[in-house]
Amino acid sequence: TTPISLDLNNIQGDILSGLPKKTQYYIFFKIQDAAKFRSDLAHFIPLIKTVAQVLKDRDDIDDHKRRGQPGLIPLVGVNISISHFGFVKLGIDDSTLAPNGTEDVFVKGQKQDAITNLGDPKRADGNPDWEDAFLNEIDGLIIISGESHATIEKKKHEIEHIFGVHTHHASIQEVKSIRGDVRPGDQSGHEHFGFLDGISNPTVNGFDTNVNPGPKSVDPGKVLVGQTGDPTPTREDWAKDGSFLVFRYLFQLVPEFDKFLEEHPLKKDGNGKDLTPEKGSELLGARMVGRWKSGAPIDVSPFQDDPELADDPKRTNDFKFEGERTSQLKCPFAAHVRKTNPRDDLEPDFSIDDRRILRRGVQFGPEVTRAEHNSGKTIHDRGLLFTCYQSHIENGFQFLQQSWANTANFPPFTGIGNATGLDPLIGQGDRAMSGLDPLSPQNVLPIDTFIIPRGGEYFFSPSLKALKENIAT
Ligand code: HEM
Repeated sequence: TTPISLDLNNIQGDILSGLPKKTQYYIFFKIQDAAKFRSDLAHFIPLIKTVAQVLKDRDDIDDHKRRGQPGLIPLVGVNISISHFGFVKLGIDDSTLAPNGTEDVFVKGQKQDAITNLGDPKRADGNPDWEDAFLNEIDGLIIISGESHATIEKKKHEIEHIFGVHTHHASIQEVKSIRGDVRPGDQSGHEHFGFLDGISNPTVNGFDTNVNPGPKSVDPGKVLVGQTGDPTPTREDWAKDGSFLVFRYLFQLVPEFDKFLEEHPLKKDGNGKDLTPEKGSELLGARMVGRWKSGAPIDVSPFQDDPELADDPKRTNDFKFEGERTSQLKCPFAAHVRKTNPRDDLEPDFSIDDRRILRRGVQFGPEVTRAEHNSGKTIHDRGLLFTCYQSHIENGFQFLQQSWANTANFPPFTGIGNATGLDPLIGQGDRAMSGLDPLSPQNVLPIDTFIIPRGGEYFFSPSLKALKENIAT
């Protein structure tokens, strides 16, 4: 096999390295004037942060810290992606992204997919029950990432200026802009239910060095189109080094989630030890997710949290539900991390590499208020701007959501069929699961809905070369 060599100057930064993301703008836009957009784009391209530049920024930050300099250095990163509708508007033939009827979903768009495959709740008019903005056509997405609100605000103005937004000659119109923020203080890195996120992402051959124990690295073609391992073998050259970006606007009902845990505490752990109501609720939450709030995996530490395990990168992803295909003692089959990465639950020759996604994204909305906590009812909108990258949406995000999270008899070898249940976080449909009580794993518990999809779209994040030579004029 030829050694893999990736051109990190050609790949948008969010894909492999993740943009630094204390705070981010997601700007969803519609193209108003295709010719002007293509020429404005030439002025926008220099703002794009590549993987190579993100890595350099990281070195600068480390340097800054090493020298004991105070404060954060101003940092900003910009990326852009285009939907199929955007390519059509630009007059660019994007059929190489969905050759021979594969990736139909990219061509149809997520709104259609939400109705037919993802299981999103519907309105009376047949549309998914999304925010109106996302029922419109969306042609592209600009992500601005930075260390402070002032920095990303300034960059947003600069970008609006390039595209002539707020003038008579605007080439784009903003359909919706959403600001995301990592959570404050010790909740930084934790999603709104309180669980540490961003722990398990696939490492990529030819990019990641010093790989920690855990699921094996994937070929770059699982994330980057046209690279070694891309399941679609023939692509036109301009598509190479791009990646499909899936965006989901996911609202989280945090007070309701907390109340559910409070109302269903486990009485005993798997060793038969009595639990206080508080500990019983904590264990229930950990069993729904497959990790403790600290991030420690329950497959390794099933009945009590272990913050040291959570903090040890050599151990926190080193588990595979080994020998547990028919056992939910340590971890329920339907736990979120087991549903979305079943590890040893599948046949050894199953090509799980095709199902791996690189998750990015950031939280939006304020912390839970006292009034919300006391009433157990959400008043303020909050959740996750879910973003993930893959070289094939139908193999990646769509498969995980439809065939795994929403499918009761997955994983396949549990021996209890539909009693296995849906993913208790993201599963859509008849929400129930077994395995929550380690001593009575056959008990099936109906689970309320805590995550509500309110919008989304499928995009393609092109390489710098494609942006310069094929898309900009
Ligand atoms: C892992 C929460 C939506 C796929 C995780 C983890 C948490 C979490 C706490 C464990 C931390 C980690 O392993 O990095 C959430 C929340 C969501 C959400 C709160 C929505 C608001 C989704 C969606 C998908 C998804 C929509 C895909 C359809 C995954 C995958 C993993 C994961 C693949 C890693 C599993 C592993 O490799 O062990 N999520 N998630 N998540 N989630 Fe989600």
